[in-house]
Amino acid sequence: MAYRHPDELPTGDPALLPPDAVIAVDGPAGSGKSSTARALAERFELLYIDTGAMYRALTHAALSSGINPGDEAALVALLAPASLELLPSRGETTVLWCGNDVSRAIRTPQVEAAVSQVSTHAEVRRLMVQRQQTMGRRGGVVMEGRDIGSVVFPLATAKIHLSASPEARADRRWRQFRDRGVEVDRDGLVRELADRDRQDSERAVSPLQISPDAFVIDCSDLDFAQQIELCARACLVNPALDAALDLDIKRARRELPPRYRLVYGIFDTVTRFFGMTEYGSGGHPIPRGCIVSVNHISLWDPALVAGTFRRGPIHTLAKAELFHPAWLGGRLFRWMDAIPIRRKGYDRNAFREAAARLAEGEHLMIFPEGTRQAIGEPGQVRSGLGILVQETRAPVVPIFLRGAYGKRIGGSVESPLEVWRGPLLRWHGLDDLLGTVDRRVASDRIGLLCRSAWCELQARSFQMNPVTEFEKALGDKQLRQFSARQAKLFGT
Ligand code: DC
Repeated sequence: MAYRHPDELPTGDPALLPPDAVIAVDGPAGSGKSSTARALAERFELLYIDTGAMYRALTHAALSSGINPGDEAALVALLAPASLELLPSRGETTVLWCGNDVSRAIRTPQVEAAVSQVSTHAEVRRLMVQRQQTMGRRGGVVMEGRDIGSVVFPLATAKIHLSASPEARADRRWRQFRDRGVEVDRDGLVRELADRDRQDSERAVSPLQISPDAFVIDCSDLDFAQQIELCARACLVNPALDAALDLDIKRARRELPPRYRLVYGIFDTVTRFFGMTEYGSGGHPIPRGCIVSVNHISLWDPALVAGTFRRGPIHTLAKAELFHPAWLGGRLFRWMDAIPIRRKGYDRNAFREAAARLAEGEHLMIFPEGTRQAIGEPGQVRSGLGILVQETRAPVVPIFLRGAYGKRIGGSVESPLEVWRGPLLRWHGLDDLLGTVDRRVASDRIGLLCRSAWCELQARSFQMNPVTEFEKALGDKQLRQFSARQAKLFGT
């Protein structure tokens, strides 16, 4: 359900917001993103970044040089070497394109009419997203746009999706033009907004859609003060939920049933012996009944995750072939309460069992790519994760693994052995998303979000320890082998 009034959300202590918080504000044109994001930045003392201004600056530069907004190659050639700076200032952001102040020039109806087309190109978006991630990776920002929560910062502390009726949005846009002394026809503006919505939400790459973990805030009937109050409270919900969780990891470990303690202890010792490092887990509490969603690169993966997690029994959804009773590993899988799953088609029994375990408060580890992937590029997430999330609403802990390739279990200078854990994904916006798309598309959105989360963790890992020659060469080799296996297993 969309949130419409501040009383619908609990208040939270603003001090709960971490200093490296990232607040993502997405929504259609005219929904009040800019004023909201700016006000939130002021309230929480964060830096405000307007990503729409970046697409506008490119559009303005293209129009000034006679480049067609449909010509992707020319736009990329224009953008790649250009310097593009957003300087925080009172009122609107100052936008510098190659050192020239274009802050006013990017707000004309001509730019308005062409910018949506410019932003549909995949390579343009890739370059823009890269710049935006660089600007915000250290945190302390409020970033507004269309794909911030879903693609640019999938691990944002808070995600807000603003919505408003088309009339309310057209009115807002009309007033903005009028304040700048530009005369526009209000009816024409309604048609233009509808057109832009369609282009922004139907484009193939990063379309504007509700991120399933965003707070959807409908501001059609809110005054500005109410809107800001509601958004500010939404920013504090995840930190407040985290703060309320039990942090006593030592006790959680003591309370593990003995056989789990034994096996996880062995996993932990062995992986540490091989030089494994954990990131992002220290002190991050986890509620009971989470889905632990892991990228799959080797047969060691369940051991790596179980050895580091140790906050309660973690049951693995694993391919049925691994449960063969004659094999020691098969017995281990049974002993550790793993759930066998057929990889072809939809295994209803496995999903029913998984949902039941989550409802009992156990954790469930899944490898939603369905099979091992080549290193360097997390695979496409299959629909199982989205189905399970829709059935159980269980929060998801994204985990990115690096280094356990083939027979070499890390510890090698050629491939650092790392386990990266992201913050919890909670499904605040799922009902709203389901109001706009069917269950299958919602599953895809959940899968895409999880994959974006891995990619972000991978980017952090590569920033700390750049990808090695060994990894590059092995990744290329695996890509060929694994795509053949993928085709055989799933027909894709
Ligand atoms: O928010 P705005 O109206 O200034 O955005 C201008 C255009 O840029 C809009 O049509 C959509 C596009 N845009 C985008 O595709 N992704 C973003 N993150 C921001 C803006």
